[in-house]
Amino acid sequence: MSPWRLSVAPMLDWTDRHCRHFHRLLTRRTRLYTEMVTTGALLHGDQSRHLDFGEIEHPVALQLGGSEPADLAACARLAAKWGYDEVNLNCGCPSERVQRGAFGACLMAEPATVADGVRAMRDAVDLPITVKHRIGIDRIESYDFVRDFVGQIAEAGCEVFIVHARNAWLKGLSPKENREIPPLRHEWVWQLKRDFPALTIVINGGIRDDDEIARHLAHVDGVMVGRQAYHEPWQMAGWDARFFGEPGPAASREAVESAWIEYLDGVQTGGRPWPTAMRHALGLWNGQRGARVWRQFWSDHRHREARPSELARRFHDLARQAGSASN
Ligand SMILES: Cc1cc2nc3c(=O)[nH]c(=O)nc-3n(C[C@H](O)[C@H](O)[C@H](O)COP(=O)(O)O)c2cc1C
Repeated sequence: MSPWRLSVAPMLDWTDRHCRHFHRLLTRRTRLYTEMVTTGALLHGDQSRHLDFGEIEHPVALQLGGSEPADLAACARLAAKWGYDEVNLNCGCPSERVQRGAFGACLMAEPATVADGVRAMRDAVDLPITVKHRIGIDRIESYDFVRDFVGQIAEAGCEVFIVHARNAWLKGLSPKENREIPPLRHEWVWQLKRDFPALTIVINGGIRDDDEIARHLAHVDGVMVGRQAYHEPWQMAGWDARFFGEPGPAASREAVESAWIEYLDGVQTGGRPWPTAMRHALGLWNGQRGARVWRQFWSDHRHREARPSELARRFHDLARQAGSASN
């Protein structure tokens, strides 16, 4: 079974280490990705802040933003030193800031640069080096473009391609619009697998329910899910069983909640504000009675100094009282 069978997408501001810890309470086997970290931030900034993660998070990939081969190689070495399972290069981000740095989606126009970066990272470390990209940029609406991109990067030794199945429009759309407006062409990603059967091809973009995931798995090696996993995390509780044939770690929402509260207590004990972690879990009870009240309670800024386990007790007392009052 491919290690890339199922993954949660790298998402800036969202898939930080707290978020990944939370996701691990729901699924053990799904591959997790960090937010994109630029080579500049890693080489000149606070490495521990960007790279530290918990053992529970494996398998976990570090996503890099950058284009300079020597810098990418140095960052890949850091990834290996920190114990990451993969280094992924971002060739799909359309933001203006990223374009000024000449990396992200605009790298799709420079496959030779990407190939050099991949080669440099492969020479530096033994970890799998993977690339996440789009199917095209701007108005290039030709399958041959993405096929040639993949072919050229594969020659540099990349064996795993994660393909967000829409173009990035580099001018005129915000990053958010660039995840919604350019049309999805999932068939092109299936075609990549047919054209490069020896490569690992992972499909991404707009995939939501489990039956859809299963449908794609008949055509490609893996599925990467972003927003749906983040907003409806409980869905992941069924993934280990359905897609890996193993029981998952989440016995119930209650059990996940209590393990998560214990983690939040630890965050607070470590001197960090727990609400920055809690925000990733606010969808846990979605679709259940009382979900909105629970979400409001846990995002109420008046609670931010309190101990999470105390708050949990308080919430359950209130819920019990409300329940007996309505009987
Ligand atoms: C808030 C947010 C931040 C994102 N940040 C990144 C990022 O850092 N690196 C990246 O490759 N893609 C990033 N993406 C794109 C996702 O990885 C994914 O390709 C995209 O959301 C499409 O998948 P989905 O429809 O399953 O969400 C981001 C998406 C969102 C919603």
